[in-house]
Amino acid sequence: MSLDQHATKPHEALAVWLAPALTAVDTLIRDRMASEHAPRIPEVTAHLIEAGGKRLRPMLTLAAAEMCGYTGDDHVKLAATVEFIHTATLLHDDVVDESHQRRGRPTANLLWDNKSSVLVGDYLFARAFQLMVEPGSLRVLDILANASAVIAEGEVLQLTTAQNLATSEAIYLQVIRGKTAALFSAATESGAVIAGADEATVRALFDYGDALGIAFQIADDLLDYQGDAKTTGKNVGDDFRERKVTLPVIRAVAAADATERAFWGRVIEKGEQGEGDLDHAMALFARHGALATTRQTALDWAARARAALAPLPDHPLKTILSDLADYVVARLR
Ligand code: IPE
Ligand code: IPE
Ligand code: MG
Ligand code: MG
Repeated sequence: MSLDQHATKPHEALAVWLAPALTAVDTLIRDRMASEHAPRIPEVTAHLIEAGGKRLRPMLTLAAAEMCGYTGDDHVKLAATVEFIHTATLLHDDVVDESHQRRGRPTANLLWDNKSSVLVGDYLFARAFQLMVEPGSLRVLDILANASAVIAEGEVLQLTTAQNLATSEAIYLQVIRGKTAALFSAATESGAVIAGADEATVRALFDYGDALGIAFQIADDLLDYQGDAKTTGKNVGDDFRERKVTLPVIRAVAAADATERAFWGRVIEKGEQGEGDLDHAMALFARHGALATTRQTALDWAARARAALAPLPDHPLKTILSDLADYVVARLR
């Protein structure tokens, strides 16, 4: 298929390039999220899935496989698996973060309740495991099962670092590599593996997914302060309210004087937040260039992602994936 000239954004170009497989992924997702026995399940899953996420992770699986010359259809199953894992973690994440908006809609925990979100999230995880077995590749099963464990570890590690201003950049990196990058790298790696790619290629695509996922989450943490709810589909200031020690906060705290340190101690550690505190945090970020240096760090990871692809043979998808790396930092949603 030729590249649609109007599809200027890399994720749109990917969707155009991968259109037939992506349609098959959507059909499979729709089929497998059904449940004849518990009507609450399709209610909740339809709400989330029809709101339409970006489908970034399944596209990574499809792209990795197709770049490696794959012509079968097991990559569709793996891509759907990856999106199920993602959707399950979002259901759980919105309970943990007490979030009220996702994909431009009220969250499931708000519309139904926490119990429904937790249990339907479990159901989607179980569906993911059923699907990942089907291609019959133990190695792919290993990759995706591991990623599921690592994501949960990342979320739990974050739970215990939230509200702790002593959190280092190394710990922050460990959290985001677990909760977010693990699924990006599993998405690209499993695509390469199902295609029977050589080990150097599998490694390169793993490294690309890892660095891309890190850049993506740093950008997400920036959008939590700088974004616009209309475009991100999520509330601005959620991380501040949840007292999360993300990279902008780590950078601002590192540069803080005694008065500023006291402010951060009050709002993040003690959780005593009032009107004007988010604005004050923004002013402190500006004073120390914390958002600008955070953005630069995201761009550095995007450059690493691009570098990981460099050794791979030329392919139109390689060019799009390379552009995608900078795009995830520049994105608005
Ligand atoms: C949201 O991911 C969760 C994070 C890792 C920040 P996406 O922004 O890819 O979510 P959707 O699927 O497009 O809604
Ligand atoms: C999302 O982390 C990571 C997972 C869902 C595992 P966040 O909590 O930062 O993402 P958003 O902002 O809610 O999408
Ligand atoms: Mg969240
Ligand atoms: Mg979270």
